[in-house]
Amino acid sequence: MQSTPRDLDSPEAIAEMLDAFYRKVLADDRLRPLFLDVAEIDLRTHLPCIRAYWCKLLLGERDGYQSNMVARHLALHEQHPLQLDDFERWLELFRETVNADFTGPSADRAKTLATRIAGNLVRLTRSPIST
Ligand code: HEM
Repeated sequence: MQSTPRDLDSPEAIAEMLDAFYRKVLADDRLRPLFLDVAEIDLRTHLPCIRAYWCKLLLGERDGYQSNMVARHLALHEQHPLQLDDFERWLELFRETVNADFTGPSADRAKTLATRIAGNLVRLTRSPIST
């Protein structure tokens, strides 16, 4: 069934987008091992955490995500060096997921923020002072 494109501006829409994004990430040969073998994420705790993060960024929810995502990625990078291609693939899947079902200012903002944050993580994982 084809649904009408809508904006990424509610907790329900954000949860739906992230479920679809993680289906793609976990089906991807480049990214899946980073999540499942290196970080050994538990989706039952990881997905709520990621939802809270995006709800904070896009909806301004204040008492949700409080953790340090940069530190998590630097720790991951220490365990298994993240490549530029990993970030590019992550972004490609993120944009593809948003574009498939969402349109509007908040969907655009999600893609802009993802690009900016991925760029920051790339710089940090390439910096000699990142540890
Ligand atoms: C190469 C690209 C990326 C890879 C392979 C990746 C992988 C991961 C993994 C494996 C975790 C779980 C870490 C852990 O629990 O120890 C994680 C957590 C997370 N990632 Fe990423 N990530 C990438 C890019 C991004 C980007 C660009 C964003 C934001 C726009 C992001 C947002 C988050 C958040 C919010 C968490 C939760 C951190 C926490 O537990 O507090 N990730 N990521």
